[in-house]
Amino acid sequence: MVQTVVLRVHPSRPAAAKIQRAAAVLRQGGLVAFPTETVYGLGANALDAAAVARIFKAKGRPAYDPLIVHLAAPEELPQVAREVPELAWTLARAFWPGPLTLVLPKAPAVPSNVTAGRDTVAVRVPSHPVAAALLRAAGVPVAAPSANRFGHTSPTTAADVLEDLGGLIDLVLDAGPTPVGVESTVLDLTAEEPVVLRPGGVSVEALAAVLGRPPRLARPPLGEDLETPPAGLASPGMLPQHYAPRAELWLLLGPPDAVLTEMRRRTIELARQGRRVGLLVAGEDCPRLQDLPAVIRSAGSARRPATVARGLYTALRELDRRGVDVILARDFGSTGLALAVRDRLLRASGGRVAVVASERSRGTSV
Ligand code: TXA
Ligand code: MG
Repeated sequence: MVQTVVLRVHPSRPAAAKIQRAAAVLRQGGLVAFPTETVYGLGANALDAAAVARIFKAKGRPAYDPLIVHLAAPEELPQVAREVPELAWTLARAFWPGPLTLVLPKAPAVPSNVTAGRDTVAVRVPSHPVAAALLRAAGVPVAAPSANRFGHTSPTTAADVLEDLGGLIDLVLDAGPTPVGVESTVLDLTAEEPVVLRPGGVSVEALAAVLGRPPRLARPPLGEDLETPPAGLASPGMLPQHYAPRAELWLLLGPPDAVLTEMRRRTIELARQGRRVGLLVAGEDCPRLQDLPAVIRSAGSARRPATVARGLYTALRELDRRGVDVILARDFGSTGLALAVRDRLLRASGGRVAVVASERSRGTSV
């Protein structure tokens, strides 16, 4: 165990002395958790293999899962990427600093544990003023996964970081909650055409506007009108569980009205079995569900997906803190940041997905 120092900083005007202290820890090979616009990251000097190894140890992260390298400015790209295609510069101009991660051919200077032995490296320039100040002061590229224990929900506050990693890391810069709330979009530029490996803080629609057409998705999004579970999703355990709360999470997909009706039915049934139920819903759903024997948390407004992204992980952590056994989560669609929300809920479910058909498509037999 180490003593984890917590330094409170202003989110847009962090005190130079505190940033310098955190930067010194990074340069000396230590671990610093810091806010980015997406989630808190757990940083180490990306050019120091021993420091990077400490990230994997603190997180309990398997060595096969590569890290994202954070830079202070796009001009530093050639330090970590062997080749920078014109498209990377175009995307950098459009989205950096910001929540877009580009996968590019790796430069030799990057130790192989950063990229889990791959020949490619994931890179981004974060926009959060505290992250930007820290990267400038450190003067080195910083490898940083989300600052949570492996597989657990990503942290959006310093308290979340301490809950998972207190006593395991040297320092936390606490600048309050992170504004985007879900991780960056990971876009692979090393294939024939750009592929979204993980939907995130930059929407697919925004990428399409710059690319001239929608990018390919590594995982096809589940359709709005989905009436049967996609292959492999019908039974639990088919997906590796990730971004997950402790409670067993079910994602209910389908038209919102049908989903809320099904949520009500399941809640009553689970409560009858003596299980503590948590509901993850939109603010506007709450009045319809208030009478149920469940802990209800709103992630945000379904009409504004960015609010759901911002509130998602906090709501999941709160449900865990309340000690629920099962979480029933509604879907929020696939427009804008809702696609990233769906992706995280899908992974948190470990494949426990129920597709709810609309009343109309079920006919009159119900
Ligand atoms: O918003 C974010 O991206 C946050 C903040 C801290 O920047 N970081 C983050 O890191 O979410 P992490 O480690 O939790 O997720 C990194 C993702 C993983 O899905 C990893 O597999 C993928 O990026 N990744 C990293 N390097 C890669 C590579 N060379 N090729 C393909 N995927 C890669
Ligand atoms: Mg993570």
